[in-house]
Amino acid sequence: MKSVKAFAPATVANVSCGFDILGFAIDAMGDTVELVLKDEPGLRVVSIEGDQGRLPLETSKNTCAVAIQAMLDEMGINPGIDIYLKKGLPLGSGMGSSAASAVAAIVAANELLGNPFEKKDLLPFAIVAEKVACGAAHADNVAPSLLGGFVLIRDYHPLDVIKLHVPDQLYCTLLHPHFELNTADSRSVLRDQIPMKVSTIQSGNVAGLIAGLYQEDYDLISRSLKDVIAEPYRAVLIPGFYEIRETLKDAGALGMGISGSGPTLFALSKGEENSKKIAAAAQEIYQTIGLEVDTYFSKINTQGSYVIQD
Ligand code: HSE
Repeated sequence: MKSVKAFAPATVANVSCGFDILGFAIDAMGDTVELVLKDEPGLRVVSIEGDQGRLPLETSKNTCAVAIQAMLDEMGINPGIDIYLKKGLPLGSGMGSSAASAVAAIVAANELLGNPFEKKDLLPFAIVAEKVACGAAHADNVAPSLLGGFVLIRDYHPLDVIKLHVPDQLYCTLLHPHFELNTADSRSVLRDQIPMKVSTIQSGNVAGLIAGLYQEDYDLISRSLKDVIAEPYRAVLIPGFYEIRETLKDAGALGMGISGSGPTLFALSKGEENSKKIAAAAQEIYQTIGLEVDTYFSKINTQGSYVIQD
């Protein structure tokens, strides 16, 4: 029986100032999907490992099945495919968990069906799955998980996705506290409208961050890692947010923000030594706050998703 396995990495979306338009992939972890071609037509989610039985097996709600179905609908075919999902990412963490599942699924499906699509053209199918997972068709997790690197979604209609230059010494430390925040809840606290002066500040920071990446100017990256649109409303959902940020800055962080919709926090730094110091400082501060935290550090993952060759 023909089968294919694929992996898709965790991601940090928004990167402070780039709400719904910036994201990058990290090396630390990700999800794996195995697909098996069957004679009987139709999709079936056979098993999910690592979710403590919490993710849906129904094909209309499961992000792997939704993404694959969107691809099959586009092709106008209905083959039999069994789906086996292995979660390497915690749910509701802000590390692009639903995105990694959807991306691994479409990358595996594309290979299984003889690569009818270029990798970048798989993105719309994963976005359909994000809409089902969290109610919003945002691409700032699925795009970097699929393509790797630091990604800008310049526009959604039509999709215009740009891979940005990443300085060689840019590291990310991730702090994953042991509680969950659902993306739909974390989006529900945001405002529909923003004042002109807030928009001006945010635009300056997005432009500054992108210029900082291209110029490999770590000070400019640091000055630009500010979010005046989402963070002020979401920070209250994350215990100790501002205290943690001060501690991590003292430990060498260029900046710290909420990874996607949280509660994971990310800090960028120059060099591996700093990212390790930040992880150590985070362990201490979370202890004083009374929360357990897992810390990871990684360079920006430039590979993104891939088919696992046995
Ligand atoms: N841009 C999305 C949000 C990412 O902030 O809601 C969700 O992981």
